[in-house]
Amino acid sequence: MTIKTAEYLISSARVDQCPSEPYPEYAFIGRSNVGKSSLINMLANNNKLAKTSSMPGKTILINHFLINRAPEGKIPSAAAQKPWYLVDLPGYGYAKRGKKEQEKFELMISSYILQRKQMTLLFVLIDVRLEPQKIDLEFFEWLGENGIPFAIIFTKADKVSKGKLGGNVKHYLKVLSQQWEELPPYIVTSSETGMGRENVLNYIGEVTEMVTKTE
Ligand code: GTP
Ligand code: MG
Repeated sequence: MTIKTAEYLISSARVDQCPSEPYPEYAFIGRSNVGKSSLINMLANNNKLAKTSSMPGKTILINHFLINRAPEGKIPSAAAQKPWYLVDLPGYGYAKRGKKEQEKFELMISSYILQRKQMTLLFVLIDVRLEPQKIDLEFFEWLGENGIPFAIIFTKADKVSKGKLGGNVKHYLKVLSQQWEELPPYIVTSSETGMGRENVLNYIGEVTEMVTKTE
């Protein structure tokens, strides 16, 4: 999949306010500060597209970005040229938010994930530097219970040495395999260096092709 154009479309507080076009949609979730917004910018080659911050809790709404808008009056024929969405979600698990606030974000995120029909696949972002965190493992479990298709994206690969990178990923997958019979697909990325960009876009292309074929 190639990204020819990427533009910010709309921010929604609730899933029923999200755009109604039936385009394939790929959403990014994970703990606050894991690098969701940065990854969207890296994929789109535009560091001003999604708002990022070194302080956790930056993204507070469901943000839709339209990729490859169809030219006025033209309906693209090839699947590769059809429009699709990238969605930046607020992070979970930001401890400094009060309990009420946390619950509000959890409801926003969970209702989007459970109700958004256009959501083709959810990318769950994991900071490759860290030991597997309980909150993420529980989140995977919840996705499994609800039959949500997802893949893992390891972030911030530039922050560990090459040797450690492979070891950390292997360790993470080992912990996951205690929970899952079949491991989800995973991609290692860095928004700083662009590592993994082609892999993510190719994967989105493959999944889009699969879902449009079965329609
Ligand atoms: P919330 O919106 O608060 O949930 O956070 P987020 O997951 O969208 O994180 P964001 O993209 O805002 O990035 C958080 C911080 O991590 C920023 O300071 C980014 O510059 C940094 N960051 C994100 N990805 C990478 C990466 O791949 N490498 C490095 N070195 N820093 C990164
Ligand atoms: Mg963000």
